[in-house]
Amino acid sequence: MDKFFHALRKFARQRSVKDMEANFPFPAVKTKLVFLPSRENVFSRITKSEKYSLLVDKNLLPHLPVKMRKRAFPLPGGEACKNWKTLGAVLAWLATKNTERSEALFVIGGGAACDLGALAAALYRRGMPLTLVPTTLLAQLDASVGGKCAVDFIENKKRIKNFAGAFYPANQVLISPSFLESLPARERRSGLGELLKMLYLEGVEPDIASMQLFLANGKMNASMQRQVQRAIAAKIGFVRRDPLDTKRIREALNFGHTVGHALESMAGGEISHGEAVAFGLFFEVAFAESKRELLIAQRVYGDLMRLQFRLPEKHGSMKGKDWERHFLGDKKMNKSKLAMSIALAKGKIIRLEVAPNQLAQFMARAFPALVQLGKVHPPA
Ligand code: GLY
Repeated sequence: MDKFFHALRKFARQRSVKDMEANFPFPAVKTKLVFLPSRENVFSRITKSEKYSLLVDKNLLPHLPVKMRKRAFPLPGGEACKNWKTLGAVLAWLATKNTERSEALFVIGGGAACDLGALAAALYRRGMPLTLVPTTLLAQLDASVGGKCAVDFIENKKRIKNFAGAFYPANQVLISPSFLESLPARERRSGLGELLKMLYLEGVEPDIASMQLFLANGKMNASMQRQVQRAIAAKIGFVRRDPLDTKRIREALNFGHTVGHALESMAGGEISHGEAVAFGLFFEVAFAESKRELLIAQRVYGDLMRLQFRLPEKHGSMKGKDWERHFLGDKKMNKSKLAMSIALAKGKIIRLEVAPNQLAQFMARAFPALVQLGKVHPPA
């Protein structure tokens, strides 16, 4: 018997289990971007499909043709949809009506609706074809391409953004300026913050006059449409080079967001995401240039003032400690560095790693100085 076990052990040792490698073709998805002049063009593309499911921001529901309205699942408006509860409700709705996994899911709404809808598409029976119809400028520029989708997690009134998510690129994105005409001016300005970010990253001089027109009446002239296309193409470029955000290339899209997120959390609802990011662009450039002549920061400031971006001035007395807390997202403070990608010129995107308190000290001085400057030179 001993002999038998000895032989068996020897045999087991001899058998070599080799490592293997498997190259999978996913998540290789081709996203088709279609630019359409009117909402009607968008709607007729959707209703062309015989079988489809539709998620719509409930505020847009009245704008839909009746036959689409009847098939739609209304999402809570804006950010309120980006949570587990709505995700669960959408998946349950798809299941109850026996949706097949080959059936297309269309999502009409802003960034939060697109993020939520894309995650639902990724999860339902392990993935169904997805078409996004982003209806805000911010969503057209950001949530439309790149495949990031997620829901937030809220506990004790604290929101952990994009807590659970995936990469699930849409098969198709339908983009129409017609949705932007009815956006409130604040939302339009928020989108312009994102547009400026992409143009600066590309080293393209923004056409501020066209942006001003868009702010005034929601209409996109040809130049504005070209800028939007250029910005989306730029985003595609970053995503192609770093699709899963692991190579520190795609993180350049966070330009303006380190300071922007702190501003947003500090000012609560007083400032929108895009407005906060717009000032984030300015402060981050100013930080990078702080030992120089602030030439680029001055240009950015000029653009922001011409587009009537407003700082939430009453927070001008924030101390370094307060800024630091916001930089660390109210989490327990640690010594880790904040990474910022900052566009200083065409082809010159620098990456800085700074201690939170260093940036916090800078903000505690720069923010009141900017508030003061606005008082001396009120925007035209
Ligand atoms: N919103 C940043 C990204 O798509 O990576």
